[in-house]
Amino acid sequence: MASKIIKVDPFDLVVFGGTGDLAYRKLYSSLYHREKIHQFTDPTRIIGVSRREMSREEFQRSVRDALGKYGEGHDSEAVETFLGRIYYQSLDATGERGWSDLKKLLGDEDRIRAYYLATSPDLFAPIAERIGEEELATPRSRIIVEKPIGHDAASAAAINDALGAVFLEKNIFRIDHYLGKESVQNLMALRFANALFEPLWNSAHIDHVQITVAETLGVGGRGAYYDNSGAIRDMVQNHMLQLLCLVAMEPPSSLEADALRDEKLKVLKSLTPINDSNISAFTVRGQYRAGFAEGAPAASYLNDIEQEVSDTETFVAMKVGVANWRWAGVPFYMRTGKRLPQRFSEIVVGFKRVPHAIFDAGSDGIPANRLVIRVQPDEGIKLWVMIKEPGPGGMRLQHVPLDMSFAKTFATPAPEAYERLLMDALRGNAALFMRRDEVEAAWRFIDPIREAWAHSGEPPRPYAAGTWGPAASIALIERDGRTWNEEYE
Ligand code: BG6
Repeated sequence: MASKIIKVDPFDLVVFGGTGDLAYRKLYSSLYHREKIHQFTDPTRIIGVSRREMSREEFQRSVRDALGKYGEGHDSEAVETFLGRIYYQSLDATGERGWSDLKKLLGDEDRIRAYYLATSPDLFAPIAERIGEEELATPRSRIIVEKPIGHDAASAAAINDALGAVFLEKNIFRIDHYLGKESVQNLMALRFANALFEPLWNSAHIDHVQITVAETLGVGGRGAYYDNSGAIRDMVQNHMLQLLCLVAMEPPSSLEADALRDEKLKVLKSLTPINDSNISAFTVRGQYRAGFAEGAPAASYLNDIEQEVSDTETFVAMKVGVANWRWAGVPFYMRTGKRLPQRFSEIVVGFKRVPHAIFDAGSDGIPANRLVIRVQPDEGIKLWVMIKEPGPGGMRLQHVPLDMSFAKTFATPAPEAYERLLMDALRGNAALFMRRDEVEAAWRFIDPIREAWAHSGEPPRPYAAGTWGPAASIALIERDGRTWNEEYE
């Protein structure tokens, strides 16, 4: 099917943190992709804002360089049109400098206006307040913020209050870039555009679910942020719980933003609390030591963050319960970590075994069906089924995948998550963004876990870089008679 380009009305996108890593690495190239397919309408403008003094021309040059550096064409017509939209305003987010110039630059035309805060989260509240004071929040204005929204439920509520004092909730777009990934949206298509799975999607037929987000990278230059965050706040509170919600939620009545978010919220509220009473049974945390990763010797976490001690986890595995009618008794195993042997994200839905074996399948019995949703890389879906091996020699069975690779099926590669999310925010479609109550409910699940870890006094368990985390994370699932999925290829 030919792709459909729906034009976006003219907008002003104001990027605070406009000379930062996120902006150069992701935002401008995502916007440029949309320029290339002629999605923008004149007079659309993209206004970079940062403290740095710089002329418009210098900033345009830096954006051109970034497009080149991150793999975009250099001199096509689209680049020139795109750079023509780029403006710059030097401004002190917490001081006086630049605000009146920004106001002048924005003018008073009634146009969609989106403020993207690609800044450190401690600036979210002050910038939002200031936008309010300067009367820069018009009725058609939106604000887009990145995670982390706070570091616990209370701080998230404070940020949400500050955003909510200036912008209506429907105009606040909290990004979880996992929701912008094509394969994550495909999970919804799989569940709600096929009649096949829904009758099986419950505790009567599903044995367990696994969610793995494995990374090979260490914390690199992000040590200062990461050491105050750890895997649970960096990955579980947001990306992984969002994936869990999409697997576990009830079918929403429509794709309307609140219909979807109401259902995700119900899941978050149904999670079985993990606290002092069950922390060691349900969680394992780890921290990487020196090892071998990405084909080379890799330093330890402490080395990477240049500290002598740290109790921050770079790996976490958890067993989570969803206490409702559909999922009672079905464990959701989740694991994520830095410096693991492979980079991939996947969701595995493990079905129950056949109730009675008529075939001789050896001491392990007949393997159960598994539905594997590969979020990245090699996006696709595999449904593992049993078949008879062809040829004579009796009924020899094999576990083989019905294989739906998106890359092989669709000619065009999946767009970068930010492309979709930026366009949705500019159009005012909040379905793929987190609502205030979702963010806070997720923190209310996470906070007691962190407190229980602190009470336990146990440091994270060591694991060598380039291994699958502490042995206890294997035991977490294997003592229930299950294994982490190893079948994809
Ligand atoms: C970010 C985390 O939100 O997600 C990073 O802060 C992590 O630590 C990244 O590396 C993973 O995203 P992706 O899209 O590469 O899986």
